[in-house]
Amino acid sequence: MRLDKAISSQGTLTRKEARALIKSGRVGVDGVPVTDPGASVDPATQALSLDGIPFTWEEHLYLMLNKPEGYLSATEDRHRPTVLDLVPEEYARDGLFPAGRLDSDTTGFVLLTDDGAFAHDILSPKHHVQKTYRAALSEPVTEAMLEQVRGGIELADGTVCLPAEVTLLGDRLAELKIVEGKYHQIKRMWAAAGNRVLSLTRTAIGPLPLDPDLGPGECRPLSGEEVAALKSWSKPE
Ligand code: URA
Repeated sequence: MRLDKAISSQGTLTRKEARALIKSGRVGVDGVPVTDPGASVDPATQALSLDGIPFTWEEHLYLMLNKPEGYLSATEDRHRPTVLDLVPEEYARDGLFPAGRLDSDTTGFVLLTDDGAFAHDILSPKHHVQKTYRAALSEPVTEAMLEQVRGGIELADGTVCLPAEVTLLGDRLAELKIVEGKYHQIKRMWAAAGNRVLSLTRTAIGPLPLDPDLGPGECRPLSGEEVAALKSWSKPE
């Protein structure tokens, strides 16, 4: 890849800024200053440096975002703000997208990445990555409702869901773990059981709980260990 792309792809510098730095001789490749922004490099195997300090290059970025209400899980929209509008400049990079959608009024954990294969794996029901939601409901949860949701409920349009793990946290508050991501799934599951979701938040993806230090609208990169934990949880059938 081009040296200017390798430097600017990490988010902190624009392509123009990267080019200027390279031309001024401040960027090194394997310890040697390189002043051609178009020079070909392999950042996975070659050591990049800026002013003699190692420049860490990661092929992909994985961000944990605490989505507030009112944001679309999309990369762009003409009228409404999207989750990408919440990403600070330092983490913005080409190709970043939400791995899975939350409704605009659903809050909580959204994973943003530029790694398409990884996103596919954690979203595919075949990989069994549970997403955990907390749902506040309009009616007290009955045994019959629990049985239906746990057993693999049939939605109003005839779609049959995979069984969900449900834990009651209160008579109108339930935690659900599901591996699918059908449109409005949790809301439609409870509607089919005769209840109504008043508010919904995603609290975990696979083994990763939403970081309690992230306020609404805040995000942070996943650590290498967190990415590895998610990947090791993602097991194809
Ligand atoms: N289920 C829903 O109904 N909405 C979401 O945003 C996520 C899961």
